[in-house]
Parts: sequence; structure tokens; C-alpha cells
Amino acid sequence: MTSPAEGQPVDQGFKDAMRRLAGSVTVVTVASGAERHGTTATAVTSLSMNPPSLLVCFNRDSRLHAMLSAADKFCVNLLHTDNVDVSKLFSSPVTSAERFAGGHWSSSAEGPPYLEDAQSSIQCAKDQQIDYGSHTIFIGRVLSVRNRNDISPLVYCNGNYVRTSDLAKKKKPG
Ligand SMILES: Cc1cc2nc3c(=O)[nH]c(=O)nc-3n(C[C@H](O)[C@H](O)[C@H](O)COP(=O)(O)O)c2cc1C
Repeated sequence: MTSPAEGQPVDQGFKDAMRRLAGSVTVVTVASGAERHGTTATAVTSLSMNPPSLLVCFNRDSRLHAMLSAADKFCVNLLHTDNVDVSKLFSSPVTSAERFAGGHWSSSAEGPPYLEDAQSSIQCAKDQQIDYGSHTIFIGRVLSVRNRNDISPLVYCNGNYVRTSDLAKKKKPG
């Protein structure tokens, strides 16, 4: 165990702590008519089962934020370890069209596109949005879910992608 550095500013200490917070990687997508966009995000959390809901957080400076603020639906694609390239593409400074050129994307009945080989794709209706500092918290009520059978979520920690196929082996049956 290491002790916190004497006099370390809280901002730096917090950044260092967050680098140690492992997070499942997602790509959140939205659509508006023929326009669609998607962005890589780890600030995604299950919220409740009553109703089934989750939350996602986006920086107000992001393009996804602008579209999601105006949208009434969004899709959270939980990435599989096969989808590392999709994660890199959807966090890079390229156009929406260039992003969707990578990976196998389909349009959904709900509207937002979903990644066919994602770990899971969760279609949501946007129920609330709450501004906090530089970010906005978007709350989604779950409309439909697609799950891939083999469990190997893509995790990001300390600036690296982590392979997690062993996690599936530890799950209890049933
Ligand atoms: C692994 C990873 C996780 C990220 N998580 C978030 C997040 O939760 N919220 C956010 O606003 N940006 C997050 N980002 C940064 C955005 O993906 C990045 O700034 C992106 O270029 C924004 O694209 P846009 O402006 O087209 O929406 C993350 C980036 C990476 C690589």
C-alpha cells in the first residue's frame, strides 16, 4: 500500500484514484432522423430494477451530449473484448460516419443504432437529465435488451483495456 503524497492537490489525487476505478466500456448511441452519433463512455451505471433503469454521464462539450440533450431515446452498447477497435474509434476525433464505418451496426425499431456483436445492447427512453458541473447525468428507462451469450466485457483501467473472460467462469450457475 502506498501513502498519499504529502501536499498532493485533491484534483491530482482524484484523477489518480479514478485511473484505479475499473469501468466497463460502452458506446452510447443516439439518432435523429438520418443523423446518428455514438461515443465511448465508462460513466454508465445500473440505477434500479423498479423501473429497470440506468444512467450515463457526458461532458457538455461532447457532440454526444448535444444530440442526447435533444433526443428522447438512446442505446447503451456494452462492449465485448472483441470490440476494442470500436471503443478506440468512438472516442477518437472523427466524424459520425467514420465512427459507424467500424463495427457491424444495425438500426433498431426504437431508433438508436446497436452494435450487433456487443456484449449487450440496452435501448432506453430518456426519462430525466441533470446538469452537474461540466457533465450531465442522463437517466434512461429500459425499453428492450439484446444480450450476447459469451460473457467477456471490455474493461478500462489505468489507461488500458483489460481482458476479462475469466469473469464469466466465476458466475454461479442459474
Ligand atoms: C475508455 C473511455 C471512456 C470514456 N468515458 C467517457 C464518459 O463516460 N463520458 C464522457 O463524456 N466522455 C468519455 N470519454 C471520452 C469521449 O469518448 C471522447 O471525448 C469522445 O471523443 C467524445 O466524442 P464526441 O464529442 O463525438 O461525443 C471516454 C473515453 C474513453 C477512451
